[in-house]
Amino acid sequence: MKIENRKILLTGGAGFIGSHLADELLRIGDDVVVVDNFSSGRREFISHLESNERFSLKEADILSDDIEPLIGDSDCVFHLAANPDVRLGIEDTRVHLDQNIIATYRLLEGMRRTGVKELLFTSTSTVYGEASQIPTAEDYGPLVPISLYGASKLACEALISSYCHTFDLKACLYRFANVVGSRSTHGVIHDFIEKLRDDPAKLEILGREPGTVKSYCHISDCVQALVHGWKVLSEPVEMYNIGSVDAIDVKKIADIVSGELGLKNVEYHWTGGVDDGRGWKGDVRKMLLSIDKLKSTGWTPNYGSEDAVRLAARELISGE
Ligand SMILES: NC(=O)c1ccc[n+]([C@@H]2O[C@H](COP(=O)([O-])OP(=O)(O)OC[C@H]3O[C@@H](n4cnc5c(N)ncnc54)[C@H](O)[C@@H]3O)[C@@H](O)[C@H]2O)c1
Repeated sequence: MKIENRKILLTGGAGFIGSHLADELLRIGDDVVVVDNFSSGRREFISHLESNERFSLKEADILSDDIEPLIGDSDCVFHLAANPDVRLGIEDTRVHLDQNIIATYRLLEGMRRTGVKELLFTSTSTVYGEASQIPTAEDYGPLVPISLYGASKLACEALISSYCHTFDLKACLYRFANVVGSRSTHGVIHDFIEKLRDDPAKLEILGREPGTVKSYCHISDCVQALVHGWKVLSEPVEMYNIGSVDAIDVKKIADIVSGELGLKNVEYHWTGGVDDGRGWKGDVRKMLLSIDKLKSTGWTPNYGSEDAVRLAARELISGE
């Protein structure tokens, strides 16, 4: 797929991953139109792009505003806007249905009506649920998500696939491990930094020691993988895991974050969690994705989980 000199509509482009992707797309020579409602995105993440004539911002909500004028004459849609808070589904059973499934449906309808044919979508490892094969490859099944968030993303994947085959679209679906780095406003590293800044002597940790074991991918590797997958897209629907080659437990993350904050002897208070030690209902105990498929096309991550977490902690602490 041609990736330079394209006009990209980037939903969620003021968010953590979206703003880094906007930087990279502009760097390789694309025009980028960010659509964001700033529900979790931040103006300061994209303010440095305002002087770039290839960049524009449309403040809009893809769940309620007219989609067709937003899509305009784009060549390609990168759809990142979503509610990414996995835990929220326990308290609010509607939010992922609306913000993820219905919003994606509205975008697909907008694409169908305007004739835009290329879509890149950010899905998640949580579509696999509690996979019995670790590392988990893209062809693993059956897919049995254990969170409402995972269910909503799997529903989006199914909708996108059906639109591709029915209306001749092409789509790349990316299933992310935990992505970490500067501008991240949620997730375990962000939470630990906030808590330890409030009280450097102790840290409450959800779950049971040593916590869940998951794979972490640095944002720089994630963005390169997104662009690479787009470049090699040929099938109507392609699916790639994006992650790092290994996984670490929550205790290790607590040690790294405490260390990077210069703290010693922090007392860890484990909540005990639910269901035999998971952090919360819907939290997967072990997640490690096989990234061989995308690697076989020429992408490779620079960071393992531990280095990704350490670098992300440094970036977030320094406010880079
Ligand atoms: N961060 C991760 O580890 C991770 C893992 C798996 C999948 N993902 C997926 O990657 C994508 C980006 O995640 P992120 O971590 O950058 O989250 P984020 O919350 O930082 O970004 C989401 C962005 O979408 C915007 N948005 C939300 N609803 C919108 C709406 N209705 N209309 C317009 N804009 C809207 C928000 O304001 C925000 O800027 C999401 O689809 C998420 O589900 C992220």
